[in-house]
Amino acid sequence: MTWVLDKLKLHKKKLQDSDDKSYQLFKSKMRLAIFVLIFCTFHYGSGVDPKNFKTCDESSFCRRCRKVQPGNSKFVLLPGTLNTYSDSITIDLINKDTNHLFILKVEALEGDIFHVLIDEKTPLQPRYRVTDALKGTPKSGTIKVEEVNDNQLSITTGINKAIIHANPFKIDFYQNDVLSVSVNAKGLMNFEHLRHKTQPAIAGENEVDGEVPEVPKTIEDEDPGAWEENFKSHHDSKPRGPEAIALDFSFPEADVLFGIPEHADSFILKSTQGTDPYRLYNLDVFEYVLDSKMALYGSVPVIYGHGPQRTAGVYWQNAAETWVDVLTTEKNVVSSIVNFVSGSRKSDPPTAHFMSESGIVDAFILLGPTPLDAFKQYTDLTGTANLPQLFTLAYHQCRWNYNDDKDVETVSAKFDEYDIPMDTMWLDIEYTDGKKYFTWDAFKFPNPLAMIKNLTDLGRHLTIIIDPHMKRDSGYFFHNYCTDNGLYTKTSDGKDYEGWCWPGSVSYPDFFNPVAREYYSDQYLLSNFKTTTADVMFWNDMNEPSVFNGPEVTMVKDTIHHGNWEHRNVHNLYGHMQLMATFDGMIKRDPNQRPFILTRAHFAGSQRYAIIWTGDNLADWGHLQHSIKMCLSEAVAGFSFCGADVGGFFGNPEIDLLERWYQTGAFLPFFRAHAHIDTKRREPWLFSEKTRLIIRDALRKRYSYLPFWYTMFYEHEKYGFPVMRPLLAHYPADKDAYAIDSEFLLHDSLLVRPVMEKGVSKVDVYFPAKDEHKNGDVWFDIDNFQKHEKVGYETIAVDERKTPVFQRGGSIIPKKERIRRAATLMKDDPYTLVVCLDKDGTAKGSLYIDDEKSYDYRAGKFIYTKFEFKDQTLKNSFETKPNYDTKSWLERVVIAGLDKTPKSATLYMDGKPFELDILPHEKAIAIRKPGVNMAKKFVIKLNY
Ligand code: NOJ
Repeated sequence: MTWVLDKLKLHKKKLQDSDDKSYQLFKSKMRLAIFVLIFCTFHYGSGVDPKNFKTCDESSFCRRCRKVQPGNSKFVLLPGTLNTYSDSITIDLINKDTNHLFILKVEALEGDIFHVLIDEKTPLQPRYRVTDALKGTPKSGTIKVEEVNDNQLSITTGINKAIIHANPFKIDFYQNDVLSVSVNAKGLMNFEHLRHKTQPAIAGENEVDGEVPEVPKTIEDEDPGAWEENFKSHHDSKPRGPEAIALDFSFPEADVLFGIPEHADSFILKSTQGTDPYRLYNLDVFEYVLDSKMALYGSVPVIYGHGPQRTAGVYWQNAAETWVDVLTTEKNVVSSIVNFVSGSRKSDPPTAHFMSESGIVDAFILLGPTPLDAFKQYTDLTGTANLPQLFTLAYHQCRWNYNDDKDVETVSAKFDEYDIPMDTMWLDIEYTDGKKYFTWDAFKFPNPLAMIKNLTDLGRHLTIIIDPHMKRDSGYFFHNYCTDNGLYTKTSDGKDYEGWCWPGSVSYPDFFNPVAREYYSDQYLLSNFKTTTADVMFWNDMNEPSVFNGPEVTMVKDTIHHGNWEHRNVHNLYGHMQLMATFDGMIKRDPNQRPFILTRAHFAGSQRYAIIWTGDNLADWGHLQHSIKMCLSEAVAGFSFCGADVGGFFGNPEIDLLERWYQTGAFLPFFRAHAHIDTKRREPWLFSEKTRLIIRDALRKRYSYLPFWYTMFYEHEKYGFPVMRPLLAHYPADKDAYAIDSEFLLHDSLLVRPVMEKGVSKVDVYFPAKDEHKNGDVWFDIDNFQKHEKVGYETIAVDERKTPVFQRGGSIIPKKERIRRAATLMKDDPYTLVVCLDKDGTAKGSLYIDDEKSYDYRAGKFIYTKFEFKDQTLKNSFETKPNYDTKSWLERVVIAGLDKTPKSATLYMDGKPFELDILPHEKAIAIRKPGVNMAKKFVIKLNY
């Protein structure tokens, strides 16, 4: 080390003696090297240091909003100002302390949703209102308005009603006369009006009869950070001063709250009394802390309150930094349930207190009443994932980085050599020429098109990374275009904002500017990105945005975006706007191919464009466990297509952890192995035969369920329900199930309890109750059809190959059991139907088939079949006439849960009977080769 320093000193001396330009260049190179060294040590080495991220107390607006005490709100309505419309009302609202005027709008929307908007009546400057998160303009409902008394106004729409209280201001939302959500019931509302810095009144200017009237001091006047703020070495100039908003939402029917991803925490939210609130602020946090309320990469401000009778939700549409206090009467969910059960729920219901740095109150009240209703109300507003191409539901192989085209080819070939299925190879940032996106490193990847063809000839795909930071390099076309056309995000004094990221000095396209979006999206066109094909998919990473030398590793808040909005107002939407452009580019590239984009940053509605993963996790058991909790929270917030880096991003997983991670990942929607550049290679064949076979088994199991995954995603797009679901989604009355987040449901049909603990030979699986009498479903172990009928915990033995997964009696699941090298090659393969019977001997299910790739399904080119088994007979039916020419046929029907074994089965097709063989299939029977094409109607009857 001293040797290196001596050498550098000598070199510096020489340059100092030579011309000034070389010395300056040396100095700047050294600064960059030192910065990268320090950053890499801090950023990718030793785990996150929470001290580099703000606490509420270190954030002026959070501190201010938290100071508001519960009690009678200082906001009151001015009844004389009421305006009534067919779908909404408006009325003025006043802050009694400052006499500042606001306007409230309450609007009824179709589908059991109310919309509440509050803005200043005449703000000094416009306040930011989020656009682009909703999937369209929601349809309005019709209302009836009545003045209940001097203090109360009622708005009725269908079975729903809002009672607006004037003094103190509060709104109670009812469904069928049951109070479901109360707004400002705790009186925590805050709305800091925009003001001139010179307030309060200055002598001379505001004198009345020679006296300067006393202007009451507000919390914000007293806070030292209201007009400018520092964090570490960073300064925030805050030209608009204090402009925070906050509001509380109580859920009188709820025992627990959940939602507001992304946090590495339990599915059920914990009380924040005595801790920091949950924070929503898109940040690049690596090796994140578990069981924490710290912000992560995505921010989805939707929360749900759930109890046995009712689920309701609130979508707080605000893209500024937001903190959410969770107020329950006890410190944790278990004791709070006990407390609520003992009778105090109504008087002190669980409450969410949203606090945002700027913007307006723009909140949607989702009235449920079931969990699935509330989830659907949210996706009706913000959209669902688009039906993905089927191969994207299969297995993805990634690492930072596959070194060159040979490496890609070899890895792909090894999957074949060991007969392990794999659909997509991924390339991380090292494929580029000097981290200049939309370029290739010509030395390592001399012929990308040939490499891509090698993969696509095998039925595989390639996904490559494109980050939003752009290298400030005068030889880089993208940088030059943005510089010349003013397309970068600007500093407060109008220059291009510069930061540090992987390429060194970078700037950030202003994705809020439609011209920047258009230019960026054009780069995905094959005429521009000539070294790609329409089969290449994309990964948008680091889009919080990550700025290595910025406050909390992100952009300073006083930079300026299109429309003169400060970054402060729109921070959580930055990645979302990039995704819109990427999606648009991919559609322009090939209008009939469904885009696949992986993103790290996300906001409400990003699910319409991209899928997510849980970022830079760690190869340890805790991070494996949190992958389930985190994806469950994302799923109820619209992000059904979610996964975690299999194996853990940082560190080298122990063998058993890697095996268990593959087994778990095989049942999460997004299934991708990924690893940090400094980790050891961990492709499946690098381990013992035993490990390789365990991984292979997990992958083959995943591939066998692809028809089920595909059908679930079709139904997700069609109906808006999540694919991955918490137990409470289908067992809402079972309080013991609320806090269980080591298990999850896929649709309502599979119950998955992965093994996520080291060295265990058994796990306790909870089988949920359907009602308070502890009646439950029948569950069949998918490996051996062992029946489980008991409600509550049951101990299941697990050897190293076992993942406890159970199919619900009453469901029918489609599978394909001829596993090939890639999912694309299984398109025409035959199906197996697995029928698990409920206690009445019945079952239902569905299957969706199309070309697995294009948008033709939107023009009706698909087959959607419903199956029903009852009275010893399996039948199918079609809602719409099958309109896709499939070669696939029915190869096998497995039935579990029959009382006795039938002798044979008869298939009726086109009015003719055909005799079929029956084979015993462990604790089930298998009907061999019905052979019927999947587009045909059939009946299969069991004979005794
Ligand atoms: C951060 C991402 O989270 C990680 O997955 C990726 O490998 C690195 N950036 C490098 O691109």
